[in-house]
Amino acid sequence: MRNFFISLLIGSGIFFQPILAQDFEPNYEEAQVPSYTLPDPLLFTNGEKVTGPKQWNNRRQEIFELFEKEVYGKSPEWDGELEAEVLFVNPDFMDGKATRKGIRLHLKRNGQDLPLDLLIFYPNTRQAIPAFLGLNFYGNHTLATDSEVAVPTAWIRNNEAMGSSDNKASETGRGKRIPNWPYEEIISRGYGLVSLYYGELDPDFDDGFQNGVHGLFPEESRNAASWGSVAGWAWGLSRVMDFLETESWVNPQKVAVLGHSRLGKAALWAGAMDKRFALVISNNSGCGGAALSRRQYGETVGRINQSFPHWFAENFNQYNEREMELPIDQHQLLALIAPRPVYVASGVEDRWADPKGEFLSCVAASPVYRLFGLEGMPVATQPAVNHPEMGHIGYHVRSGGHGLLEYDWMQYLDFADLHF
Ligand code: GCU
Repeated sequence: MRNFFISLLIGSGIFFQPILAQDFEPNYEEAQVPSYTLPDPLLFTNGEKVTGPKQWNNRRQEIFELFEKEVYGKSPEWDGELEAEVLFVNPDFMDGKATRKGIRLHLKRNGQDLPLDLLIFYPNTRQAIPAFLGLNFYGNHTLATDSEVAVPTAWIRNNEAMGSSDNKASETGRGKRIPNWPYEEIISRGYGLVSLYYGELDPDFDDGFQNGVHGLFPEESRNAASWGSVAGWAWGLSRVMDFLETESWVNPQKVAVLGHSRLGKAALWAGAMDKRFALVISNNSGCGGAALSRRQYGETVGRINQSFPHWFAENFNQYNEREMELPIDQHQLLALIAPRPVYVASGVEDRWADPKGEFLSCVAASPVYRLFGLEGMPVATQPAVNHPEMGHIGYHVRSGGHGLLEYDWMQYLDFADLHF
């Protein structure tokens, strides 16, 4: 009876409630960072050492399964149908230099149809070109000044940033995010850009995992290792990749996945789950993204699980205030991307995301790149503000705070030029 009661508690999530004081004070003092030892990416759980790329495959699988089980949750295999509906095509965009397209992807499964609107820009060339793929925060209309790009109907979080007082997108947001998605520059550098609103994949609120991509799998019974929203957003990026493989303008071998903040967490997990992403970019992804959890600097595991109970697998709650017990840390998430290039970017004033912890993660992932004869992070101490460093791992800390800015894009374009 007692065991039954305990498993009932575990199942309901009551067991893993964060034991946090209401008045959580983030630590911003380097001197207060606890001493810690990071799990070695090149050491199997049984203590054996990885000595070459072949063994790395097995160790990689071990690390991947730990992230699935303890952090993000396990995403299902896609066995549904994907249909692409053309909403509009404008081959005369930017005075004929580029094409802008709207595609509605239908994810069909179990009698359900989840529509995802893609906004696509690419230069008018004859060759198949590289492209950036990234989720946006407020809807595709925030990347366009004209009404050809419709306002989404899906639920929007933090919509006051777009001048709305409710959770519905509206014309007030139109064009507001163009500075964060400088498509003219991206196009002039020879790249395509594909973006979609992340809330169409999974609305960013805690509804017990009923809606969005979760709703396509009604037969799935939930457990403590089931997928959260970050995994849902990441999984959705792979469905967009499925579609991009059918498009003639893009070279599917050269698709970079990118995301800012919570969507940076999703971009990293997408890069870990799906090796088709040839390059991965994390912009200010912080806790649960590129930053080391063990540092407990800025946002902590307990804090993120308390504020966003729907983002991660329920198991992640076991590590609230117990980061040292995690069997992995976030440098191993970067290592899962090896030998593909990965870029991590911080903002110096974005202390909540722990810029130094993001950098140290790059350093600690580097031995895995070296196993492939590649340079991971070229330097061992955090570079000065606005001094990017680019090996197979790239990093910069720029001036300013939390945001995806033009400066960031300039580095991503250079990094993509270097590797593509
Ligand atoms: C919050 C959250 C972060 C997240 C950020 C964002 O600040 O605590 O983990 O990265 O939102 O997505 O903007």
